[in-house]
Amino acid sequence: MRVSVFGLGYVGCVSAACLAGMGHQVIGVDVNQVKVDLVNDGKAPVVEERIGELTAEVVRTGALRATTDVHEAIMGSEVSLICVGTPSEPNGSLCTTYLERVTEEIGAALADRSGRSGRSGRHTVVFRSTMLPGTCLNLLVPILEKSVGGTAGVDIGVAVNPEFLREGTSVRDFFDPPKTVIGELDAASGDVVAALYDGLPGEVFRVPVPVAEAIKYADNAFHGLKIGFANELGAVCQALGVDSHQVMDVFLADRKLNISPAYLRPGFAFGGSCLPKDLRSLVHAARRADVSVPILAHVLPSNADHLQRAVELVERTGKRRVGLFGLSFKPGTDDLRESPLVELAERLFGKGYELKIYDANVSLSRLIGANREYIETRLPHLAQLLADSVEEVLDHAEVCLVGTRDVAVLSALPHGGDGPVLIDLIRLPDADARRTEPGYVGLAW
Ligand SMILES: NC(=O)c1ccc[n+]([C@@H]2O[C@H](COP(=O)([O-])OP(=O)(O)OC[C@H]3O[C@@H](n4cnc5c(N)ncnc54)[C@H](O)[C@@H]3O)[C@@H](O)[C@H]2O)c1
Repeated sequence: MRVSVFGLGYVGCVSAACLAGMGHQVIGVDVNQVKVDLVNDGKAPVVEERIGELTAEVVRTGALRATTDVHEAIMGSEVSLICVGTPSEPNGSLCTTYLERVTEEIGAALADRSGRSGRSGRHTVVFRSTMLPGTCLNLLVPILEKSVGGTAGVDIGVAVNPEFLREGTSVRDFFDPPKTVIGELDAASGDVVAALYDGLPGEVFRVPVPVAEAIKYADNAFHGLKIGFANELGAVCQALGVDSHQVMDVFLADRKLNISPAYLRPGFAFGGSCLPKDLRSLVHAARRADVSVPILAHVLPSNADHLQRAVELVERTGKRRVGLFGLSFKPGTDDLRESPLVELAERLFGKGYELKIYDANVSLSRLIGANREYIETRLPHLAQLLADSVEEVLDHAEVCLVGTRDVAVLSALPHGGDGPVLIDLIRLPDADARRTEPGYVGLAW
């Protein structure tokens, strides 16, 4: 394919040289004449393992050249990869100035091209730069459409293709990527990007444009969080005289609960008799040892804020009669200790909502032993709110919070806004279908 690559920084120059190495005809574009001259001399403008040899090779064979001329690049390509920088502004916000400018320039060149040569083949603009969800569709597509004088997805292809290369090993990562993500405005735009990387290993994900934009942030936020977590835990271990690497060796070997998809789906707040207690005592131990652990110390506040979001969803409905499905701290148990649903019920009760609760595992008639005593002594105010059936709650409620996957509850929930407002705390199995229904609100979208 004939490819133009805009921005010859780390991402652009590696992408350009590697694509040329795959057999594409590539033209790199940068506003910086020095970088353009370096590439045309067969030298890489960045220091990276293998990039020097690769650039020399593909420039020598004529597969890669560079220019400062946007028109020349657009005339000579059918697809453009945008790799310009998106640095932080002083207040932390994302700087989109370079993206906006290059989009405008490409749009103008495309308008000129179709003016000169009549209806030439559709050009596809692919954004590689990291940008917040919404940037492509709400900011860049309108700029492109205005300057081209056409419609994205019809007259011009548009896609977002975030890049997951690590500086230092980026050439190796290009040819062996962890994954390829294609955010496509339409299928034809996605096909162009897929064809570009045809033959590379790794799974290909074709997703809506904002999802592709968000994935890059999910990845980088998680990577930062992992490093911060490991370092904080290491510091606490050290202060307590424990070898943190020995701890992490065992931690990492657990592929069921630790290094696994477990606990990584957005849903409701956590609780129970272990997580809150153990986090509290670990943070307390760190504090006593004068070890600062801001990440660990903010896990419980983050959890509390998430619970508060559910309270706010109820408040926003403006309704007073509330039903709650689920009360124990997770499905399949009657354990109420530190259940986030108990906390939610207490906050709503405290705010004067008329509450009725149903949880098959926590009906007073079935409770025995410690849990019966717990609810009678610690939660007598909630005991009187427990209903004996799903219907009793549905008959009472103007708004229902669903925090259980109990099939008896799920099958009784009304559809299509026919009944109480449903606040889905856990992303119900049929959430996708319900999402467009009136009176459905999801906490975990
Ligand atoms: N560096 C990485 O490892 C990495 C990894 C993944 C994603 N990203 C993202 O990729 C994007 C690029 O990052 P980078 O590190 O390569 O940036 P960089 O600053 O090294 O390079 C950006 C290049 O774009 C050029 N440029 C700016 N405006 C231009 C225009 N109008 N036309 C042509 N060229 C123009 C600049 O002169 C510069 O050479 C950023 O959004 C970044 O967040 C970077």
